[in-house]
Amino acid sequence: MKSICDTAGWRRQPLFLTALLLVAVTAAGAGLLFAWRAAPQNWSRQPLRNALTAQVVRPADWAELTLAGGPGGNDWVLLPPQPQQHSPFRSAVTGAQRGFLAPQDCVDCHADYCETFQHTSHARTSMLPSATSILGSLQPGRNLLTTARPELQFRMHSLDGKIVQTVELQYPPLRTVFTDSFPIDLVFGSGNHGQSYLWWNGDQLCQAHVSYLTESDAWVNSPGPYYDGTVDFSRPVPVRCMECHVTWIAADPQEMNRFDRSTLIPGVTCVRCHGPAHEHVAFHRQHPAETEGKRIVNPAGLSIERQNEICAQCHSAGEEHASLFSYRPGEPLQQWLQLDLAASAESNADPHSANQLARLMQSRCFQQSGGFACTLCHDPHQNQLDGAASFAQHCRSCHQQNSCPEVQRGETGAIAGDHCVACHMPARRDAQVAMQTRQGNIEALLRDHQIGIWPETAAAERSKLADKLRQALQPQDNSQNSRNAQEGSAP
Ligand code: HEC
Ligand code: HEC
Ligand code: HEC
Ligand code: HEC
Ligand code: HEC
Ligand code: HEC
Ligand code: HEC
Repeated sequence: MKSICDTAGWRRQPLFLTALLLVAVTAAGAGLLFAWRAAPQNWSRQPLRNALTAQVVRPADWAELTLAGGPGGNDWVLLPPQPQQHSPFRSAVTGAQRGFLAPQDCVDCHADYCETFQHTSHARTSMLPSATSILGSLQPGRNLLTTARPELQFRMHSLDGKIVQTVELQYPPLRTVFTDSFPIDLVFGSGNHGQSYLWWNGDQLCQAHVSYLTESDAWVNSPGPYYDGTVDFSRPVPVRCMECHVTWIAADPQEMNRFDRSTLIPGVTCVRCHGPAHEHVAFHRQHPAETEGKRIVNPAGLSIERQNEICAQCHSAGEEHASLFSYRPGEPLQQWLQLDLAASAESNADPHSANQLARLMQSRCFQQSGGFACTLCHDPHQNQLDGAASFAQHCRSCHQQNSCPEVQRGETGAIAGDHCVACHMPARRDAQVAMQTRQGNIEALLRDHQIGIWPETAAAERSKLADKLRQALQPQDNSQNSRNAQEGSAP
């Protein structure tokens, strides 16, 4: 019996979607290729690399630029790294040889797990590019990122069978439009919050300038030091990004961003939490009658500490001692990663995980109950994103609903019981994950895992609950009308 995550289905997109995209893009592309702000007909088009008279900062100056707080005058262009001269890095080892198998290798015997798992953010956190995996719009009119510099914009479109980000810089002194296109070779992010895009410069993986932000359904400058009005396709993607966002890839130990891309296993999948699985698979193929799982880690059988360390590989700040691609669930994580358990939700030394383990461990719930696993609230095999209210049941497994004065108090008490986490685990804007947009900075909204009493959050949530309650108490047809009215006014 095959599930939709069988060997072929796991990656392949339905053909008709690809065809649809091709038709749409060809039609649109033909009409729009030269339509940008009616770029004057007699201007010449040249590769961006020729824009020598523009103020150019080369990657070597990157540190300086960052230290200086970025380009003040917005008059900077960062060129991509030079084309590769060396032969591409090839690894003698593949993930499979180390036991890092893809979900396709599990589906014969665990079709049910594979089926639900493929819809999770973990499975979708890195994907090969396609019309469905890239969430930003490629539709003409919506496929642009304009910037603070009127002469600079980015266009996302198809070119020679690839989806690319094209930089378009109108340079008046030379009456020239400089353009350069960078392929989207790897999509990072399920789109819960947004997506970033990576491209291969030879065997070196670099980040593209433009990201996608779900909250505003728009293309944006990538988070971090991607300043509005600049161009940067040179930033290397270090191994650490890959350790958190892919299942496995062979990395050149001498360099920060050289990889053997033929070894990539996209998504954070089964073996990152269950450990090397080749012996398990070999055993069960040889012993089809065996009903007890052998030679594989079931986290449920580990101590709370060891269980949570599996998640902490990627969900807490710390100092790395050895590559996490060699970590084996069940072993003490500190040999690989020394966790910083004093970290705050916002002080994420590593790019942007909100330090969920450290924060959870700082709460009285964790300390005074003897501790519990992330899986108390999260099922790693299911997409749980629609169920924020369902989390209250986990609070109730330890707390009497009435133990919260808020639940007993006043008009909102009646529904507060389903919203424990809204008040006690605040969703916070994280300044470490800020994107510069022309409407101002937008910061990602992440859930603080220190369960506690947060008076300001509680006050805000209390008034939201009061609104909700008021709406719920309105007669049925009124609320229907107002919902329709709202939908009608949406753009
Ligand atoms: C040839 C069949 C087969 C393949 C392929 C297979 N498994 Fe299993 N696995 C089993 C059987 C049988 C069990 C025991 C029954 C059960 O729990 O489903 C099991 C159990 C498990 C368990 C629970 C172990 C325990 O101690 O309770 C885990 C975790 C697991 N498999 C993970 C994987 C992963 C990950 C893959 C793919 C890399 C995989 N399996 C591939 C047959 C297989
Ligand atoms: C190898 C790295 C890695 C490991 C191990 C890992 N995660 Fe994640 N996790 C991620 C990344 C990356 C994301 C962001 C996915 C996205 O949206 O693109 C994520 C997202 C999540 C989310 C939010 C999205 C959702 O589906 O609700 C939850 C919850 C989560 N992880 C829980 C866990 C738990 C619990 C464990 C341990 C059992 C764990 N993770 C282990 C990397 C990891
Ligand atoms: C220490 C692990 C870790 C590293 C390193 C890391 N990420 Fe993440 N990333 C996460 C987690 C975890 C999330 C989910 C948000 C959260 O829980 O804080 C995430 C979220 C994201 C998202 C948004 C996904 C969504 O939810 O829609 C993008 C895009 C992303 N990361 C890109 C990158 C890039 C690019 C790099 C390298 C420059 C990188 N990440 C490095 C762990 C990591
Ligand atoms: C983010 C981490 C993570 C990922 C990814 C993951 N699992 Fe699990 N898995 C767990 C944890 C944690 C448990 C223990 C759950 C519990 O506490 O009951 C588990 C339990 C299991 C079990 C045993 C269930 C039982 O009856 O005890 C199987 C089988 C399994 N996983 C298979 C898979 C397969 C197959 C995949 C990939 C398609 C996968 N898992 C992906 C974390 C993960
Ligand atoms: C495994 C059991 C357990 C779970 C699950 C749990 N708690 Fe607790 N919690 C405790 C214990 C024990 C304490 C400390 C003693 C007390 O105050 O009752 C505590 C304390 C608290 C406090 C007081 C915190 C402070 O800093 O004074 C709040 C608020 C709270 N819990 C809310 C929650 C919410 C909301 C959830 C669900 C998201 C939750 N708890 C889940 C066991 C738990
Ligand atoms: C509207 C916000 C809000 C909601 C919803 C809410 N709480 Fe509270 N909770 C508070 C505030 C504020 C306090 C601080 C106590 C006070 O009001 O003096 C508190 C206190 C607590 C305490 C500590 C009581 C003590 O004696 O120290 C616990 C435990 C608790 N809540 C659990 C829960 C649980 C479980 C739920 C869901 C069933 C929940 N809360 C829902 C706002 C909320
Ligand atoms: C007491 C319940 C509880 C426990 C235990 C718990 N979480 Fe969560 N977690 C939540 C809730 C509630 C959310 C918000 C879900 C939503 O908004 O849909 C969340 C969200 C997340 C997210 C999404 C990040 C974001 O804000 O977008 C990640 C990642 C995550 N948890 C990881 C973990 C990890 C890792 C652990 C263990 C260290 C853990 N969680 C333990 C309740 C819990």
